Amino acid sequence: MKTIQVQLGQRSYPIHIKSGLFKNFPDLLMETNHGQKWIIISQHGLMELFGFELMAKLKEQSFNIDYISVPMGEAAKSMKEFSNVMSQLTEFECDRSTTVLALGGGVVGDLAGFAASTFMRGIEYFQIPTTLLAMVDSSIGGKTGINIAQGKNMIGTFYQPKGVLIDPDFLNTLHRNEVIAGLGEVVKYGAIWDADFLQEISDWLDDIVSFPFEKAVKRSCKIKAEIISLDERESGLRRLLNFGHTIGHALESYLGYGRIRHGEAIAHGMQCSGWISERLNLLSKEDADYLNITINKLPLPKIKNIHGNNLMSFIKMDKKSEKGILNFVVLKGLGKAAISIDVSEKMLQQSLKVLH
Ligand code: GLY
Repeated sequence: MKTIQVQLGQRSYPIHIKSGLFKNFPDLLMETNHGQKWIIISQHGLMELFGFELMAKLKEQSFNIDYISVPMGEAAKSMKEFSNVMSQLTEFECDRSTTVLALGGGVVGDLAGFAASTFMRGIEYFQIPTTLLAMVDSSIGGKTGINIAQGKNMIGTFYQPKGVLIDPDFLNTLHRNEVIAGLGEVVKYGAIWDADFLQEISDWLDDIVSFPFEKAVKRSCKIKAEIISLDERESGLRRLLNFGHTIGHALESYLGYGRIRHGEAIAHGMQCSGWISERLNLLSKEDADYLNITINKLPLPKIKNIHGNNLMSFIKMDKKSEKGILNFVVLKGLGKAAISIDVSEKMLQQSLKVLH
């Protein structure tokens, strides 16, 4: 088992990663069990796949455990569902000692983490990600939240879990397109932080059927843990994790959630950002092409012609803008990301041409 530590002083926590780790979950959770109430927050399908078996195993070890099921999809990250989760936690007579297990992808992790951070002013929780995207990104770093009509993740907290338990075998049950979308975030780590890793990913993508997920998850988590340990609250370094996200989020909002997966939108956003970095003379043509070729190895959905104007209003609403100035993540070389405030509206619009 590989264990990576997120170093945050007294709030440090481990990320355990190993294929087949599922069977060791009770052992890993045992030291946190003091007879308190445990609640799995998940979705019905995931309860059928893993949740009921996990509950049974934990009950065998005398855990006092129940579960709450939330709807599929982004709709679960709503005030209504948040309120439902709160009511159910109360109905289960949860108290300050209760521990939550967030079993699912990014939606479940964000909602369950937010519920844990606010219930009785904060209770402990573990992340148990079931999608590639959640394994390499959303389960690590303590960003929790829900959406409101005015924007995604507009209400949320930084609230770190007690631990993250990752079994890459869970990916065997995931739809292929979900896995491909998650690979977009894996490419991101190589692009922003580690050129050797980017090259390995690019080589692995030549034979996507044999892609070494466990290895890729471990490397990605190590990079994310390193970044979070240095900048938990996104005052500097953590912003680099937003590479591809300014245009990616705008694509998601414009096309409509559910029309394009987050990881797919980010992959397209990274192509545009590569083009912008080259345009700003920060990235060589050769490196920009390499990034583009790597991303094009992912079988992503084609984006229909989008007029740049249509994306601008979404880009302007982005949380990455401060006092009207856009903090845009660029590459100053492969594996070397930086923030630029020099990215013009025109450049953003022109960059969309790389998608067609
Ligand atoms: N997903 C980006 C971050 O955790 O900061």
